[in-house]
Amino acid sequence: MTTILAIESSCDETAASVCRDGKILSNIIAEQKVHEQYGGVVPELASRAHIQNIVPVIDKALKDAKCEINDIDAIAFTQSPGLIGALLVGSEFAKSLSLALDKPLIAVHHMQAHVLSNLIPSMTGGRDDPKPSFPFLCLTVSGGHTQIVLCESPTKMKVLGETIDDAAGEAFDKSAKLLGLPYPGGPLIDKYAQQGDPDKFKFPEPQVPGLDFSFSGLKTSILYFLQNAGKSNIYKEEFMAAEKEKNDFIKNNLPDICASIQSRIISILLNKLKKAAIQTNIKDVCIAGGVSANSGLRKSFEELGKKQHWNTFIPKIEYSTDNAAMIAITGYYKYLSEEFSDLSVSASARAKW
Ligand code: KG4
Ligand code: ZN
Repeated sequence: MTTILAIESSCDETAASVCRDGKILSNIIAEQKVHEQYGGVVPELASRAHIQNIVPVIDKALKDAKCEINDIDAIAFTQSPGLIGALLVGSEFAKSLSLALDKPLIAVHHMQAHVLSNLIPSMTGGRDDPKPSFPFLCLTVSGGHTQIVLCESPTKMKVLGETIDDAAGEAFDKSAKLLGLPYPGGPLIDKYAQQGDPDKFKFPEPQVPGLDFSFSGLKTSILYFLQNAGKSNIYKEEFMAAEKEKNDFIKNNLPDICASIQSRIISILLNKLKKAAIQTNIKDVCIAGGVSANSGLRKSFEELGKKQHWNTFIPKIEYSTDNAAMIAITGYYKYLSEEFSDLSVSASARAKW
């Protein structure tokens, strides 16, 4: 039996999970509401909240798993990428535990963990859900990253394409901000889009070569579209609307605007994923990361998968957004291949695979 304790603290969630032989026994997340009033994550406040949360969160994860700290065989933690102060809280805590318990330490890459969230065992109607076979493709869409990953084994992955500017999550959050919605706006755009017409307004699809993505042009076109109260997507002084006209336009068309923005973000993502699947001739295709919680993306991905004869895989919502269960499953596979770190390992805001 192999029992892993995992800690995730890369951004504004303090999370801990226990997994045994690849099965998740507990998955605890403390969210940090303090950032809402600032319209985005404040790194220093995130670090302080992690310090306050980390002991109770780990304690609850052990209790829920009916585990004693001495039952743990290894400690996995998010080493990179993320906010450096936030990562340091989790990594230093993991290192201290490893030293005190004399148990191995496993450094985990947050984006690789998002990919492997698709391997977390789950059940529907009393049956085990099927899992992707290697090699598979994963579209990983989060607040800081947008990548198409070729996953050859749990410890061997290659990025085939990624964003050259904003991430998909940022495209959602920045669009929401332009609409006057609070942070994080992605889930709110999702909510309003469900009542809107995705074909009502047209936003441009960027022409980026290969499998890379770009979202900054979309953001600019949404900005002009709103400043022009829906008359145009391009900058023209004669179109500029008065503040009240702009706000009334948003108020009267919010569901249609959200549905149209969401539909364009989804088509940008899925067109590249389709291209990657054709190029690699891979039929097992997954999505992962916070944006994979989006109901429109989940639906369109399933529909595309049916048309393309893919086997599609989507993590359960609680494993899509940031969580420690994905760090635990990645830690488990790294444990099996004996990929341990020593105490000199340090957290890193940016890191290669
Ligand atoms: O993976 P994640 O939880 O954290 C990072 O690693 O960044 O992703 C967070 C991102 C945020 O941009 C958030 O707005 C977006 O995921 N997100 C969504 C939805 N739920 C979370 N975007 C669109 N629709 C959603 N339902
Ligand atoms: Zn994430």
